[in-house]
Amino acid sequence: MTCRQHQGLFLLLLCLVPISEQICPPMCLCLSDTVSCSSSGLAKLPRSLPSFSVTLNLSHNHLPWLGPNSFNTMTRLENLWLAHNQISTLPHGVFHNVSGIRCLDLSSNKLRAVEQHYFQGLWRLEELRLFNNKITRIESSTLSGLSSLKKVYLSLNQITHFPFFSIQDHSHPFLTMLDLSSNRLTQLPWEDVKALPSLVQRDLYLHNNSLICDCSMYSMFWHWNLRGYDSIKDFIDEHTCNINGDPRTSIQFLRNNRFFLNCTVEKAIMQPAAVFLSGVKVSEGDSVRLDCQTSLSGTDVSFTWLSPNRGLITQTSLNDTLINMFSNGSLEIQAATLNDSGLYLCTAVDTKEAINATREVKVTVLLPAEESFNTGYTTLLGCFVTLLLILLYLFLTPCQCSYCKQPAATSNSSNLPFVFSSSTRDPPNVETFKHVTFMDPTRCGEATEWEDES
Ligand SMILES: *[C@@H]1O[C@H](CO)[C@@H](O)[C@H](O)[C@H]1NC(C)=O
Ligand SMILES: *[C@@H]1O[C@H](CO)[C@@H](O)[C@H](O)[C@H]1NC(C)=O
Ligand SMILES: *[C@@H]1O[C@H](CO)[C@@H](O)[C@H](O)[C@H]1NC(C)=O
Ligand SMILES: *[C@@H]1O[C@H](CO)[C@@H](O)[C@H](O)[C@H]1NC(C)=O
Ligand SMILES: *[C@@H]1O[C@H](CO)[C@@H](O)[C@H](O)[C@H]1NC(C)=O
Ligand SMILES: *[C@@H]1O[C@H](CO)[C@@H](O)[C@H](O)[C@H]1NC(C)=O
Ligand SMILES: *[C@@H]1O[C@H](CO)[C@@H](O)[C@H](O)[C@H]1NC(C)=O
Ligand SMILES: *[C@@H]1O[C@H](CO)[C@@H](O)[C@H](O)[C@H]1NC(C)=O
Repeated sequence: MTCRQHQGLFLLLLCLVPISEQICPPMCLCLSDTVSCSSSGLAKLPRSLPSFSVTLNLSHNHLPWLGPNSFNTMTRLENLWLAHNQISTLPHGVFHNVSGIRCLDLSSNKLRAVEQHYFQGLWRLEELRLFNNKITRIESSTLSGLSSLKKVYLSLNQITHFPFFSIQDHSHPFLTMLDLSSNRLTQLPWEDVKALPSLVQRDLYLHNNSLICDCSMYSMFWHWNLRGYDSIKDFIDEHTCNINGDPRTSIQFLRNNRFFLNCTVEKAIMQPAAVFLSGVKVSEGDSVRLDCQTSLSGTDVSFTWLSPNRGLITQTSLNDTLINMFSNGSLEIQAATLNDSGLYLCTAVDTKEAINATREVKVTVLLPAEESFNTGYTTLLGCFVTLLLILLYLFLTPCQCSYCKQPAATSNSSNLPFVFSSSTRDPPNVETFKHVTFMDPTRCGEATEWEDES
């Protein structure tokens, strides 16, 4: 739709604007509303960039800097790709007159800091890619005015502090992904992190930093892990911390929790006011009862369970002889199978008082043979199974990252008849990016439509 509008506008512009202004700069390729000057050995911006351009690709050049008003004439610009250049700072007013930018890619440059003025006025910016720079510092109000942000990529920098407090529900209602992995964060302000919108917490990437092992750090990740967030699950082994901050004593803290045995993580520290946690172990084939003991009781309280393998369970939805739910909320599994392992979440809703309470129960189903083993063996086996599952996951799931996938050029791109092939040239360190969920680089901004559907 927008595509046709653009094309229509473009044709209109062609008629209205003197033709000389629309000349495609040498070294660039212009098609429809897209101008590509990538991999052209540019050391400075082309003198006159066409004003009709909605997408401008300047990636893989040698641009050392951008001047103020660099894109002044390009008032229709929405996608600006500047990856793989040599840019180290941005001057004031660099994005003057281009407040319509939705996607900005400055990855693989030489930026050393993110200063307050850098993205000022880009209030429509949805995706900001700054990974693989040399950023050590992010000024606290940099992201403040960027209320349309959906995804921010900051991995592979040298960030030691991040202004988590500047991200809140009302300031960034659409933000769903914040990638701070592979930086130099040592201690996080956990109160601020806990206060992040839950959508951001769900997709907050913090692995491969230099975190110092302590209980508040551990309990935060422990809870995220328990909730099965992909940002944790996909990078279990990369979640490391240093004992007393000494890099030589780095441990994979989600694998090896011995150091944290003294920590009281089983406390309610996350949002729903009252989360109680407990765990039960049951042998395969035995029956087990999970009680939904919350602060709520009485006849007006109704219960629902969210189970790992059966989804939502209510008393009326049950049509299964293997599982039972009582009016007091207790859930009974008649003959546990390995599939019944996982985190069960019970929500008790007092309809009269309009209050909810939740309880989480972690169920571990043991193979009969395991019981005779001592717990050491059980843990070992558990580790092995998890490792196997992770390996399976790594090798069997189709690769999602744009660096290894050749996107079908025109499929679901509502934008252009001419679409660049995804960055197959000089893939920056494919290993490093193996699972971080970059969108197809040509599809920035479509997330809105995608979210609306779901
Ligand atoms: C840039 O914006 C200023 C106002 O901020 C306007 O006066 C000027 O004409 C714009 N320049 C172009 C080339 O559109
Ligand atoms: C971890 O971060 C360092 C830089 O801080 C990077 O060189 C390395 O590739 C990263 N490792 C992984 C597994 O992401
Ligand atoms: C755990 O607590 C015990 C007793 O309070 C103490 O001896 C031990 O050093 C603590 N362990 C850690 C890792 O802090
Ligand atoms: C329960 O299961 C039986 C047989 O499996 C089926 O005939 C019946 O429609 C189901 N009832 C509900 C409410 O799903
Ligand atoms: C709930 O009811 C079931 C069946 O009546 C009973 O076995 C169970 O003990 C009750 N749960 C609690 C927590 O009282
Ligand atoms: C676990 O679930 C899978 C798929 O739903 C099923 O094929 C398998 O038989 C189940 N295993 C057990 C032990 O119930
Ligand atoms: C209580 O639960 C209901 C239904 O599960 C949900 O719609 C509502 O948002 C919950 N309220 C709170 C405060 O969590
Ligand atoms: C920009 O050009 C580079 C190099 O040719 C290419 O890899 C990349 O996919 C292009 N970006 C877009 C968004 O088309």
